[in-house]
Amino acid sequence: MELSEAIRTTRAMRRLDPDRPVSDEDLWSILEAASRAPSGGNRQVARWLVVRDPERRAKIGRLYGEAWGSVRQVYADQGDGAPSPILASADHLAAHMGEAPAILIPCSRGGDPASIYPGCQNAFLKARELGLGTALTTVHRLKEAEVKAVLDIPEDVQTWAMIPVGYPLGRWGEAMRRPVEETTYWDAYGERRSRS
Ligand SMILES: Cc1cc2nc3c(=O)[nH]c(=O)nc-3n(C[C@H](O)[C@H](O)[C@H](O)COP(=O)(O)O)c2cc1C
Repeated sequence: MELSEAIRTTRAMRRLDPDRPVSDEDLWSILEAASRAPSGGNRQVARWLVVRDPERRAKIGRLYGEAWGSVRQVYADQGDGAPSPILASADHLAAHMGEAPAILIPCSRGGDPASIYPGCQNAFLKARELGLGTALTTVHRLKEAEVKAVLDIPEDVQTWAMIPVGYPLGRWGEAMRRPVEETTYWDAYGERRSRS
């Protein structure tokens, strides 16, 4: 797959096929891509926990669902009252997180999350190339102590995301984003240029 197409079409895929297995080989490729990302001082603080065990997946999936349930209304109130596709898809993931064929948890002992998220994006792009959907989620952090207990994660290790991986049930659409001309300033904040 061409890199530009992967960048354009990599997005939060929250509806994943629970019955179509994801190979360990593909997970290794995804994690290899993650390991290529930069980190502060090249300290490479990220440790990736791959959760395959169905019982542990179900437990952390339940915790994710509870965490989402506790913040859902905040997001619902931000809308205009019309049915929101993002909310519906987030609800779906909250109900099914534990059924994703694999769940990735990037962790670190201390360190800055700025050294973790570049690896996540590399992982998402590699997964896209392989036809696998992913979604960056963080609300589990509201229940982080319980998630860590399920996964035997030491107290001084942080978990930065919960990333389901699986084959998408829906289509790969182009991610909707603001035009770059609107979000880019030149030389001074607020100074825009048209792109001729
Ligand atoms: C820092 C961060 C945290 C996020 N946390 C969650 C989350 O907890 N649950 C969720 O469903 N999506 C989460 N998302 C996904 C965003 O909602 C998603 O990237 C955004 O709506 C754009 O979606 P799209 O790429 O499909 O267009 C998170 C994204 C980021 C960057």
